Amino acid sequence: MKMGLCRKSVCPVLNLGVLFALWVLATLAPSCATPVPPFKTFSPPDWGLTHLVIHNKTGEVYVGAVNWIFKLSGNLTKLRSHMTGPVMDNEKCYPPPSVQSCPYEQVQTNNVNKLLLIDYAQNRLLACGSTSQGICQFLRLDDLFKLGEPHHRKEHYLSSVSESGTMSGVLIEGTDGHNSKLFIGTPVDCKSEYFPTLSSRKLMVNEENADMFSFVYQDEFVSSQLKIPSDTLSKFPAFDIYYIYSFSSEQFVYYLTLQLDTQLTSPDASGEQFFTSKIVRLCVDDPKFYSYVEFPIGCTKDGVEYRLVQDAFLSRPGRQLARSLGISEREDVLFTVFSQGQKNRAKPPKESALCLFTLRRIKEKIKERIQSCYRGEGKLSLPWLLNKELACINSPLQIDDNFCGQDFNQPLGGTSTIEGIPLFVDKDDGMTSVAAYDYRGNTVAFAGTRSGRMKKVGLVLDPHWLWAGKGGGELCI
Ligand SMILES: *[C@@H]1O[C@H](CO)[C@@H](O)[C@H](O)[C@H]1NC(C)=O
Ligand SMILES: *[C@@H]1O[C@H](CO)[C@@H](O)[C@H](O)[C@H]1NC(C)=O
Repeated sequence: MKMGLCRKSVCPVLNLGVLFALWVLATLAPSCATPVPPFKTFSPPDWGLTHLVIHNKTGEVYVGAVNWIFKLSGNLTKLRSHMTGPVMDNEKCYPPPSVQSCPYEQVQTNNVNKLLLIDYAQNRLLACGSTSQGICQFLRLDDLFKLGEPHHRKEHYLSSVSESGTMSGVLIEGTDGHNSKLFIGTPVDCKSEYFPTLSSRKLMVNEENADMFSFVYQDEFVSSQLKIPSDTLSKFPAFDIYYIYSFSSEQFVYYLTLQLDTQLTSPDASGEQFFTSKIVRLCVDDPKFYSYVEFPIGCTKDGVEYRLVQDAFLSRPGRQLARSLGISEREDVLFTVFSQGQKNRAKPPKESALCLFTLRRIKEKIKERIQSCYRGEGKLSLPWLLNKELACINSPLQIDDNFCGQDFNQPLGGTSTIEGIPLFVDKDDGMTSVAAYDYRGNTVAFAGTRSGRMKKVGLVLDPHWLWAGKGGGELCI
C-alpha cells in the first residue's frame, strides 16, 4: 500500500481510518522497523473504503466500501465479497420503486456504505448504503449471503447523504437475543421531513418482519426520534448534524457530532460558517428521548482550541494509564482527534490534537448540569432543537449517575465545553483517525493522518502528570 494510491480525486471517499486500522491489525508490533505489511492480499477495486468492523470472536474483518462489502480473514486475505452497487437511482426518488414510480431520470449511482454493524445475536451483518434514500441489507456473516433488504416502508430508509463517516449507529442487544435495537444518527441534508437526525429502531429477528426499523416507541405525541425543526432550517439553511463516532457505555449511548455553531454563525448565511463538536448522550432504556443531553466538547493546548472532531476510539486504559488518571482499569476512556478551530468542517485544518477523556469526567459534567437544571437554574440551552430559551423547572428529584430524564424538563444542552487532556499535537499532516491498545499494561495510541502516515503515541506514567511521547516515529502506509 503506497501513498500514491491516495490521489486527490479519490480522497473524499477514502476513509483513512479504515486503511490505518487495517494496518494496525496487520502489524500490531511495537517496533516501527516492521516490514511493510502483506497488503497485496487485499486491495479493493477503487479504494473507496468507508467502514471496518472486526468480529470479536473469529477476528474476521468486515469492510464496507463503495459498491462492495468484503469479508477478510484476520490476516487480511479476502474471503468473500458482496456487491451493493452501482444501482439505478436518483436521489430525488423514494423507495419502494415497485409502489411509487419515480418521475426523475434514474442513472447508475454508486452505493457508498454508510453503516456497518455486526448483529452477533442473529449472526448477520447490517450494511446500510447511500442509494434509495439509504436502505440497508442484512448479510449472513459466514458467506455474505443476502438475507434481506427491507425497503417497503418509510422507516426502512435512513438517509441518502453519500458523504461517508457522517452517519453512525449503535446496536444494543436485547436480553434474550430478541428486542435488539439500533440507535442511528445521521445528517439529513435538508430532508428533515423524511429523516430524523437521531432515532432508535427495532431490530427484528426476521429480516422481512414489517416492524423492522420501526421506532422503538411511538404514540401521538412522542416517539423515539429527534428531528431538526423546520424553524431551525429556515433560520440556518445549512444546519445539519454529522455523527462522527458512537458507542455505548454502561446504560448510555453516546455520539460525537459536528454541527453548525448557531451562536457564532450569522443566520442570514452571509459570512463564515462555524462548527462545534458535541458529545450527545441518551439512556438506552429511554424510548421517549427525554434523557437527551448534549455538551460542547473539545481540547485546548498552549492556548489553541481544537474543536472539530475527526474520529474517536473507546478503550480501556492500561494499568499504567489507569493509575495516572486515578481511575480503574475497567472504566472507559475515549481517545479523540480534533482539528484546530471551528471553521471548514469539510476541509479541516491540518493542525490537529489527540486528546483523552475519561467517561467518569464526562458523566460527572453531565450529572452536574442535570442537577443544576432540576434545581431550576438556567435554561435548557438547546437552541437548534427548542428554538427558544426554555427555563429549567425546579423539581425535588434526586439526580444520581443513573438518572434518565423526565418529561417536564426534557432534552438539555450543556453550556460549558468538556475539555479533554491534550496528549499530542500534530501541525503538519492532519490526524484523521485514532485507535488505542493496551500493550502489557501500557497504553499505546495510533493516529492515522490524511496523507497516509501513522503516528504511534506511547502514554507514560509521570509522577506529576500524564506524559505522552511519540514513540517509534512515523510510518508511511
Ligand atoms: C462479542 O460482542 C457481543 C455483542 O456485544 C457480546 O454479546 C459477546 O459476548 C462478545 N463476545 C466476545 C467473545 O467477546
Ligand atoms: C490467512 O488466513 C487464512 C484463513 O484463516 C488461511 O487459510 C491462510 O493460509 C492465511 N494466509 C497467510 C498468508 O497466512
